[in-house]
Amino acid sequence: MSGFRQLSFKLVPGRQGTELLHAQAHTWNHILSFAKSMSLKCAVQLGIPDIIHNHGKPMTFSELIAALPIHPSKAGNVYRLMRFLVHSGVFAEEKSTEIDQEEGYLLTGVSRLLLKDDPLSLTPLLLFVLDPDMTKPWHHLTSWLQNDDPMPFDTAHGMTMWDYEGCDPKMAHLFQDAMASDTRLVISVVIDKCSDVLEGLESLVDVGGSSGTMTKAITDAFPNIECTVLDLPHVVAGLQDNANLKYVGGDMFEAVPPADAVLLKWILHDWNDEECVKILQKCKEAITRNGKKGKVIIIEMMVGNQKGDKDSTETQLFFDMLMMALVKGKERNEKEWAKLFYDAGFTDYKIKPILGLRSLIEVYP
Ligand SMILES: C[S@@+](CC[C@H](N)C(=O)[O-])C[C@H]1O[C@@H](n2cnc3c(N)ncnc32)[C@H](O)[C@@H]1O
Repeated sequence: MSGFRQLSFKLVPGRQGTELLHAQAHTWNHILSFAKSMSLKCAVQLGIPDIIHNHGKPMTFSELIAALPIHPSKAGNVYRLMRFLVHSGVFAEEKSTEIDQEEGYLLTGVSRLLLKDDPLSLTPLLLFVLDPDMTKPWHHLTSWLQNDDPMPFDTAHGMTMWDYEGCDPKMAHLFQDAMASDTRLVISVVIDKCSDVLEGLESLVDVGGSSGTMTKAITDAFPNIECTVLDLPHVVAGLQDNANLKYVGGDMFEAVPPADAVLLKWILHDWNDEECVKILQKCKEAITRNGKKGKVIIIEMMVGNQKGDKDSTETQLFFDMLMMALVKGKERNEKEWAKLFYDAGFTDYKIKPILGLRSLIEVYP
């Protein structure tokens, strides 16, 4: 017997049919949304942003094809890839006013952020998030919701993402590069728009500070701040201390070194509420030793802070789903953040929405 089921249905005339067709188009869009990610990944792997950038002027299709490492029979498919990526704003096309001139491809703000050697490049993040090992957990969302594994990543790989990175140097590097690029952008905005957050501090601990990109930028701008990076031992192994930057291998659930301020950038969204409260309590101990009252500086998303901006909220919710697939955390709204702060014993907080989809939050004991 064949597995195909014949379903009976009623004809849907008029308005109802039109609505159904809209719903169908919307559903198709949803089903095929991964085409955006995968096409972008393909363009980056082929080096298209760098090739167009190095060309120095609008690049015609034939010039692009000549520069690409592709099989000659596939040129027409590159045209379709570029058409899609122009449509979605990754590249632009310059319409020449001269007769018989071919249109040329240009970079946009999006593809400029995908240049390989740009200090702010999002390429390591793209290659990390879209690596088959990182997309595998998405295929386990349903089974994870039905079993008692802590996260889909465990269901897919039998270990946490942090342990996985500990034994896969390639992925660990991609992840650290991705975090470092992001940090370069964040710290330049912080220093430009609200350096008062750091002014007057004598010491700062960057908890989960990875290879120290943030603290290096802080000590360059504020040489009087003594910085410490606390991260897992395998992350800081071999990193060299200098006069005002020290690396400590440890566990933020156990202890955080004392300082005037503790920085948590993209840390708490990795953890569930109970774990966040524990981390925050350790941070509170660190900033209140010796009778002092310091502060915790948090850089995270505040879901829904982009009032009425559907695309921004969607991106925040994409991150929330990513956190669900890979780690135990989530993206939080202001009410959820406030609850964590008060549960950990803090009394006040101030939000500075200076970082696009993310905010800088100062939390006080
Ligand atoms: C999402 S990354 C953020 C890195 C960095 N703060 C940034 O935004 O560029 C999370 C960091 O937390 C570190 N981490 C994970 N578990 C930790 C623990 N128990 N104690 C200290 N650091 C930890 C990871 O190694 C990683 O560097």
